[in-house]
Amino acid sequence: MSDIRRRLMTRKADIGETRIADIPAQDALREGEVVLSLDRFSVTTNNITYAAYGDALRYWTLFPTGDAAFGMMPVWGFADVTASRAPGVEIGARVFGYFPMADTLVVQAEKIGRGGFADASPWRQTVPDIYNRYVLCAGDRHYSAALENSEALFRPLFITSYTAVDFLRENRFFGARQIVVSSASSKTAYGAAWCLKDDDVRVIALTGARNRAFVESLGIHDAVHGYEAVETLDASLPTLYLDLAGDPELRRRVHARFGPALVYDCLVGSTQSDSFTADDPALTGPRPVFFFAATCLDNHRAQGTLNAFYERFLADQSRFFERVVDPASPWIRIIEHQGLEAAAQVVRRLADGLSDPAEGAIVRIVR
Ligand SMILES: NC(=O)c1ccc[n+]([C@@H]2O[C@H](COP(=O)([O-])OP(=O)(O)OC[C@H]3O[C@@H](n4cnc5c(N)ncnc54)[C@H](OP(=O)(O)O)[C@@H]3O)[C@@H](O)[C@H]2O)c1
Repeated sequence: MSDIRRRLMTRKADIGETRIADIPAQDALREGEVVLSLDRFSVTTNNITYAAYGDALRYWTLFPTGDAAFGMMPVWGFADVTASRAPGVEIGARVFGYFPMADTLVVQAEKIGRGGFADASPWRQTVPDIYNRYVLCAGDRHYSAALENSEALFRPLFITSYTAVDFLRENRFFGARQIVVSSASSKTAYGAAWCLKDDDVRVIALTGARNRAFVESLGIHDAVHGYEAVETLDASLPTLYLDLAGDPELRRRVHARFGPALVYDCLVGSTQSDSFTADDPALTGPRPVFFFAATCLDNHRAQGTLNAFYERFLADQSRFFERVVDPASPWIRIIEHQGLEAAAQVVRRLADGLSDPAEGAIVRIVR
């Protein structure tokens, strides 16, 4: 069982509502077990989506609470190994991976190598491999302690931006000459726009009125529009919809606007919806196709191309980080929040759609 001393639990019926609970420590470590003490983690809309799909995509099963009304919202972050009965995973090692919002997590280490290990706990085997892997920072030549906040905040999102663009490129953008991106102010969306900067395809941003100035300030789109402007977009070019908003009404309007010019609908996110369902009898044109980064990585692993992929990805990710946190003109300010009480407030604001895209939230565990 996971040993969590203090944790922030999420009410499944209202993702913005959380409560801090104490859990008695586990008695003694069993063979193969490792205690990971969480140090810092990021919280973005992506984590809210994990919770929104907690039942459908089984994220609630990963870190059991024993209380059916509450679940652990998963987050990405850095931890230290503070106890270990797994040879090859040494006390003091720094790791990156998937965690509950909690002080500590006990994992059952397997597949241990220089680069990392996996958690073999049976309740974690219902999700793609990436969610159960812990990267040993000492074995990662792209690791930099100074970039931990950027890495925690962007890595899980940028890997999605990157694999989605890979997928679209491999398919020659399905013949599109322009890509319309919704929720363009989200990190996943502008990571994709950054990846597309040298491709021969126009990138058109759609965003909320509140976030338009932020998206314009990025300077990586050919045009930036508010959602009210969908009916004015240039529908003369073959167009691909890269959907981060997941809003069914917005999707209907985009499909209606582009008609036969819409060549593909790539559904990546659902910042404005709690349903990934693409079944909509009122929808004209191509059916939305869900893109899941974790499946892409599983495919790379199955084909033996995962190492080559990561070499390319990590080099490009470093360039992306350089741009995002460029001290001369940073895209966002990374704000460190202290403790699980502060994390509760970050979650509430994100769930209510009140976060500022110009800020990225990191939570530090206070010891
Ligand atoms: N398929 C995959 O493999 C995969 C992997 C990673 C992430 N994702 C998805 O990508 C999406 C973006 O995640 P992120 O962490 O990059 O987001 P983020 O940086 O936190 O950006 C959030 C943006 O989403 C919109 N938004 C959020 N909450 C809203 C609300 N309640 N009402 C209206 N608009 C709201 C706003 O953008 P606008 O005003 O611009 O709409 C906001 O600026 C998530 O749905 C996430 O699950 C998918």
